[in-house]
Amino acid sequence: ATHLQRALDAEQTTNFNDGMVNINQRLTEIFLHSISASFPGLKGKLPVSITLNQNEKFGDYQCNSAMPISGVLKAQGTKMAPRQIAELILKNLPSSDLIDSCNIAGPGFINIRLNVSFLKRALSDVLVHGVRTHHSKGECGKVVIDYSSPNIAKEMHVGHLRSTIIGDCIANLFEYFGHEVLRVNHVGDWGTQFGMLIAHLTDMFPNYKEESPPIGDLQAFYKQSKKRFDDDPEFKKRAYSCVVKLQSGDPDFINAWKLICDVSRKEFQVIYDRLGIVNLIERGESFYHNLMPPVIAEIEKQGYVVVEDGRKLVFPEGSQFPLTIVKSDGGFTYDTSDLACIKQRIFDESGANLIYVTDAGQAAHFKAIYSVARKMGWYDPQVTRVEHVAFGVVLGEDRKKFKTRSGETVRLAALLDEGRKRCEEKLKEKGRDKELTPEEFKAAQEAVAYGCIKYADLSHNRINDYVFSFDKMLEDRGNTAAYLLYAYTRIKSIARVAKVSREELKEAASSFYDDDGLPLEHAKELKLARFITRFPEVLQRVCDDLAPHTLCDYLYELATVYTEFYDVCYCVEKDRKTGDVVKIHKHRLLLCDATVAVMDQCFKILGIKPVHKM
Ligand code: ARG
Repeated sequence: ATHLQRALDAEQTTNFNDGMVNINQRLTEIFLHSISASFPGLKGKLPVSITLNQNEKFGDYQCNSAMPISGVLKAQGTKMAPRQIAELILKNLPSSDLIDSCNIAGPGFINIRLNVSFLKRALSDVLVHGVRTHHSKGECGKVVIDYSSPNIAKEMHVGHLRSTIIGDCIANLFEYFGHEVLRVNHVGDWGTQFGMLIAHLTDMFPNYKEESPPIGDLQAFYKQSKKRFDDDPEFKKRAYSCVVKLQSGDPDFINAWKLICDVSRKEFQVIYDRLGIVNLIERGESFYHNLMPPVIAEIEKQGYVVVEDGRKLVFPEGSQFPLTIVKSDGGFTYDTSDLACIKQRIFDESGANLIYVTDAGQAAHFKAIYSVARKMGWYDPQVTRVEHVAFGVVLGEDRKKFKTRSGETVRLAALLDEGRKRCEEKLKEKGRDKELTPEEFKAAQEAVAYGCIKYADLSHNRINDYVFSFDKMLEDRGNTAAYLLYAYTRIKSIARVAKVSREELKEAASSFYDDDGLPLEHAKELKLARFITRFPEVLQRVCDDLAPHTLCDYLYELATVYTEFYDVCYCVEKDRKTGDVVKIHKHRLLLCDATVAVMDQCFKILGIKPVHKM
């Protein structure tokens, strides 16, 4: 204990060298230390949980461990009341500059009040060094994240839009924490659909080898070939033989396949450009083609393959449905490519954290793939984190599957166009077209449109189905990007309006830093400061649950807490009659700056581009 005590003592004055402090985590460490010192017999089964305090009046955080500890002790034959336990925990609590005071309430809740001088220094550090957070769990290795992943020649639909938005946000988050992140677009580019597409292509454009075929509308092309496939048995036969030739690597067929993929790729790219999706590398199912036979052989060698009606099946533990790894015609499937893929990500990419972002409908598929991968000994779940980030279906405002009025599936480009148009109208209603330059207006329109579409998706718990509504997402009140982007520009303009220069503020920030930190006094200043310091623990939670809505909730509440502060704490005091500035509260302007800095990071992680004027 003395060794740990010394280590904690040495840290008594937080130095912020690692950036912002994850307060919840630090408090957990401190309490864990005391609890293990107080109850040495409980090694290994110490329930320590620190939560936000239910009631601001009593404290900032609370520790509710006394009750479960009492239970564990009782089971071991020791009777001790939770209150007594709480007292002992407090007695052995190492001192820390984070804590001002603790008190025990009710049956044994420990209320924790943060130290104001710590808060002042924490805020001051953010102002001088920026918002920095590091990953609390130390080096946790490379992240391979699979998202977007549309299918070639089929349309990229709203489900892929969700995958793109959620996946990109999670990738940003890990990158923000300093991880190496590989973003993979696992496009469906190797399915049987290519047989009919190539057969149709060779009929429609016999000289495709000399002249690039002018397929303007790949989806229409897909529909035509599908119709022939369904109606004409002769064509169907040819389609099958085309798949065989393609998969055996016949150069002519590979060429035709590439031509088709190129058309799709260009269409996808337009969407990615508009949404600002970068660094997403395309690595489709075809990439794994040569890796599949050895993987099948490996599974067979382990004796896990069952042959049924000429098909090769694997029955994953705990799953009713088998994976089909070889079809009766010898072809491979989606299952085969995902098995080869997971192995490649573990061994070739050295992925320590594999994330797959798709609709919840694929949950059983991934569960089965992961189960087989574990059984094959490819990874140990204690070491490698493998997760399916599942999300619900996109619904229309009628709560039915999202469709256009005429009942067709919605094309993403058309959806983005509509968003932009609606934003344009809204901004014009507010007369923004008259105040902003044409460039600023266009930037605002796009930032709001795409920001709103992304935010509406991210702010809902991804597991639930989600109702797509332009009216709701563009509302300028409530938890929407429209509101937050406005709030952001407003906060940003405060110093400008007060005519305090950046240099002046920078100077003020560094002189507070050299002193005791940002001089916070007013209850609302402190409330805002406390809220800002929660940022690292919120990010950690999003990282643990892979649930971006937690970050959206935080961002929205930050804007609310900010407003509470701004309404009562004047940054600039003016003479009522003359309108002359009588006093400027620089520390409050700096608190605005700190709020903006945290909002900036939130937007960055959410993939939303804020504008400076709107
Ligand atoms: N292309 C698939 C679809 O549209 C998603 C692929 C997801 N990634 C994977 N490794 N299976 O549903």
